[in-house]
Amino acid sequence: MHASFEGSVFIAASLDGFIARRDGSLDWLPGANGQPADPAAPSDGDYGYASFLASVDSLLMGRATYDTVLGFAEWPYGTKPVAVLTTRDLVLPADPSAVVSAVSGDPAAVAARLVDQGRPRVYLDGGRTIQQFLAAGLVGRLVITRVPVLLGDGIPLFGPLPADVVLRHETTESFASGLVQSTYRID
Ligand SMILES: NC(=O)c1ccc[n+]([C@@H]2O[C@H](COP(=O)([O-])OP(=O)(O)OC[C@H]3O[C@@H](n4cnc5c(N)ncnc54)[C@H](OP(=O)(O)O)[C@@H]3O)[C@@H](O)[C@H]2O)c1
Repeated sequence: MHASFEGSVFIAASLDGFIARRDGSLDWLPGANGQPADPAAPSDGDYGYASFLASVDSLLMGRATYDTVLGFAEWPYGTKPVAVLTTRDLVLPADPSAVVSAVSGDPAAVAARLVDQGRPRVYLDGGRTIQQFLAAGLVGRLVITRVPVLLGDGIPLFGPLPADVVLRHETTESFASGLVQSTYRID
């Protein structure tokens, strides 16, 4: 039924697998909070982010990630549609060009809705969001950038699964900054 849904992940994680501190802070992440990376740091470009973003039709992110993005200096997604998984009323971005809607429900139903809306290639963002879509078998591509720091605790990228998920490693690239980016497929 969802043969044409293509869920993709592009995310940075600490070496011990966290995407944010417990309080949601991203201070350990180079170039986080919508700010440019430290100009004094070795330049690694955008780690493939712009071309990844160009490869998707829309984004689907959890409410916690959306609330973080709302705090950035600028809305980072232009006119690309962003669906926010939430059970609560949405506060819209100040940028009038932002295209944001609220969705809820189980991953299969949400995926079917995005396919119906003509947005089958979806960038999935947020830990709990990614975990639900992985558990539902709706993730086909993961680009994970490991930051060489151990946080010890935080919001985890991965979580419990109903069964093993076997990934096919495609590429790994290491950057002068020490970040290591791997791309995996799930067939
Ligand atoms: N390192 C990185 O590259 C990176 C990338 C993205 C995010 N982050 C960070 O990760 C943190 C957020 O991750 P997270 O795991 O806490 O959560 P998340 O996936 O961003 O959001 C979880 C929230 O989304 C809503 N939600 C999730 N599934 C839903 C469903 N099926 N139906 C309706 N609502 C649903 C619920 O919010 P409500 O019910 O409260 O509405 C839930 O509490 C933030 O701190 C963010 O900055 C880091």
